[in-house]
Amino acid sequence: MKMRFCVLMMGLALAHSGCAGDNGNREQTGDRGQTVMTEWGRTDDGTPVHLYTLTNARGAAVSIATWGATVVSLTVPDRTGQPGDVLLGFDTLGPYLQPHPYFGSIVGRYGNRIGGASFTLDGQTYTLAKNNGENSLHGGVRGFDKYVWKAREVPSQDGQALELVHVSPDGDEGFPGTLTATVVYTWTDDNALRIDYTATTDKPTVVNLTNHAYFNLSAGQSETILDHRLELDADRFTPVDAGLIPTGELRPVEGTPFDFRTARRIGDGIDADDEQIRFGGGYDHNFVLNGPAGTLRRAAFVVDPASGRTMEVLTTEPGVQFYSGNFLDGSLTGKGGRTYVKRAGFCLETQHFPDSPNKPDFPSVVLRPGETYRTTTVYRFGTE
Ligand code: GLA
Repeated sequence: MKMRFCVLMMGLALAHSGCAGDNGNREQTGDRGQTVMTEWGRTDDGTPVHLYTLTNARGAAVSIATWGATVVSLTVPDRTGQPGDVLLGFDTLGPYLQPHPYFGSIVGRYGNRIGGASFTLDGQTYTLAKNNGENSLHGGVRGFDKYVWKAREVPSQDGQALELVHVSPDGDEGFPGTLTATVVYTWTDDNALRIDYTATTDKPTVVNLTNHAYFNLSAGQSETILDHRLELDADRFTPVDAGLIPTGELRPVEGTPFDFRTARRIGDGIDADDEQIRFGGGYDHNFVLNGPAGTLRRAAFVVDPASGRTMEVLTTEPGVQFYSGNFLDGSLTGKGGRTYVKRAGFCLETQHFPDSPNKPDFPSVVLRPGETYRTTTVYRFGTE
């Protein structure tokens, strides 16, 4: 039956992959993948939250909740073929509704910090909510991670795709302009999660959307990510002050613990005697990606030597925040009853640089009416 279905589909869509015979792994499932939606629970005000599980032609799965457009799980094989969930998070909706450090969430309208929680645009000063000392962090008190997004499945030639939309009203958390944000997650048949972000506004505003997934490629086998090896395609990073606001300098990584131009064990430099490492409590810094922003190019490559799982990150963004899970402190119990200790996971948040609204020399984050904000990031999984 499945073979006959494939032959039929090949006739209909020659370009589409996923049928038996074109790939060793796919022969095992022999189908084109599927998306299944379930009601996952409700918010405190009774709004239903749905969970979409996208299974690709290889049988690997990603689940995404409409709460915060959150990537809840991502299950990919290790080098022996054993599947494992590489994301930190929770098994149920309940703890996602409580304060948590943005596990898998979409962050907006402004990912990372805006210094002094204010900025001036076209001569007008906007005051934002302070939710991180004197600064605004990740969109404010109620960022995009704390709303139910409107979801619908969308067709894709590459795998399974889900579109999520959130409309943020003018003045939300102090930001000007009604912002309509759209995120399309595509879980491709070659085990890549592509995230396409778009946004439009009705007044000049600032936008910086990202995803805050915490990865541990061991899928629960290693308590921390210290043994993972990381490569970052960045010759420079943006040093910060004690409040983690960039100073404005673009500093060469050469000769510092921030030099990941060739793959290095994350744990090696994480406790170095270095002012920047002290400010971050480890790595919590924006790296200036090489190559032209606006084109999809490689940003990072990570491998967990024990499981053999790898993750390649590609993005159109000018920067990536490498955060080594320094604020995790063992107080959160996550999936399967696991305690998330310091450095249990790492984030690679592709983005424009933190505090760009106050740094005229950084790439602009201004969006004006009539323009469309558009960025793409890909997290591709494999083994070695
Ligand atoms: C980002 C920030 C960190 C921290 C985490 C969430 O990575 O840069 O300082 O706020 O998000 O805990």
